[in-house]
Amino acid sequence: MTLQVVILAAGQGKRMRSDLPKVLHPLGGRPMLAQVVETARLLSPTKLAVVIGHGADTVIERMADPRIAWVRQEQQLGTGHAVQQALPHLDAQGTVLILYGDMPLIASGTLRSLADAAAQGHLAILTQEVAEPKGYGRIVRNATGRVSRIVEEKDATEAERAVREINVGIMAAPAAKLAGWLAALGNDNAQGEYYLTDIVAAAAADATPIEVRHPVSAHESLGANSKAELAILERAFQMNQARKLLDAGVTLADPARIDVRGELTCGRDVSIDVNCIFEGRVSLGDGVRIGANCILRDVTLGAGTEVLPFSHLEGTQTGSNARLGPYARTRPGTKLADGVHIGNFVEVKASEIGAGSKANHLAYVGDSTVGANVNIGAGTITCNYDGANKHRTVIEDDVHIGSDVQLVAPVTVGKGATIAAGATITKDVPPGGLTLTEKKQVSKPGWQRPTKKK
Ligand code: UD1
Ligand code: CA
Repeated sequence: MTLQVVILAAGQGKRMRSDLPKVLHPLGGRPMLAQVVETARLLSPTKLAVVIGHGADTVIERMADPRIAWVRQEQQLGTGHAVQQALPHLDAQGTVLILYGDMPLIASGTLRSLADAAAQGHLAILTQEVAEPKGYGRIVRNATGRVSRIVEEKDATEAERAVREINVGIMAAPAAKLAGWLAALGNDNAQGEYYLTDIVAAAAADATPIEVRHPVSAHESLGANSKAELAILERAFQMNQARKLLDAGVTLADPARIDVRGELTCGRDVSIDVNCIFEGRVSLGDGVRIGANCILRDVTLGAGTEVLPFSHLEGTQTGSNARLGPYARTRPGTKLADGVHIGNFVEVKASEIGAGSKANHLAYVGDSTVGANVNIGAGTITCNYDGANKHRTVIEDDVHIGSDVQLVAPVTVGKGATIAAGATITKDVPPGGLTLTEKKQVSKPGWQRPTKKK
């Protein structure tokens, strides 16, 4: 039986108080809608349509997902009207699953159970018992306990409002029946809208069995209508990811203090201290240790590598047993071989550094190719930018660079060379030997410091 998915995302989301369309607000670093689409795709639907209205062009552009069938709902006349707009884009056969773009924690298992029920020719609805049902549609059951309809809060009697079983909103139905029910919808209700929820009464009337399913975990049905709700969702989302990492054997100093905004994969015996943020694709090899307060974006760290606190790594790859930080900053294009040490207040950009090389303190290595077993002294700077163009610095194996050296690119330092402290290197340095730029030390006995004028 084929499954097709419709995601409703036309609403404005006024309570976000933002110019950004509601479904683009990020959860785990990605638009909420992208999370919903990803979950829906776990069910391998043959078609996936998204109904958009407010900020439609922005949504299409930001999602940049050519596999989505975009459906425009010019006027938001209700959830039933929204689904109706999508029908012409779907096959008349099979099952249709309806999701909300602002309910991003919904789990694929929950959706599958609804889709399976609908595949039997039934209408499947998702309901939940809640302590505070305010604002939701209520599930109305008949004397024998069967669902007979859903009543919206604004249309409900006092007795109906007391019902604590609410309509989560997500439903699945046979496509052919859904089309018939939607065609017959009216808008004679408190909000003058075409309610999707009215298909429940229609199903009851034509004796279509109505199956009720519940979310596997309570937070799945949380919606994000305001920044406050979004913040709650974000914490729930992050706690989920932390739990998955713990289940995979990762040591987290505090599962409440890690944020994964992308994809984090870890080998065995990885440990992560508090307040770390992982963005994009991050891969940590066996035994990697990440200190407190680090930010890693698009980073691959080899086995045994250690990142000490307060380091910011981006677009960086290391071999095994590298050591970075504390306070290391690596920028895109950084490739460190096995055993490289990048110490405090060292910035590396677009550079390859060979095995066992070290830059332990206060240095800038940019647009450089550094060989193996090189020592870069404190305060050393590759002057890669002449104000208009960037140039490369090449430092061959076994070079020793003293403190406070400027390497004015383009320049090559030959294998095994030693450069004395304070040198300004503007020409290629031959292999071996010592290179220095002489500065004479002068002392002036009796010289007086200036004093402050009164
Ligand atoms: C809806 C349900 C209610 C349920 C609640 C759960 C109806 C009539 N009511 O109410 O039973 O308890 O969700 O959150 O379905 N949308 C469109 N086009 C429209 C209207 C809505 O795309 O014309 C989208 C919204 O962007 C949103 C979703 O549908 O993602 C739900 O709409 P919303 O206005 O939030 O519905 P509720 O009134 O909360
Ligand atoms: Ca809502």
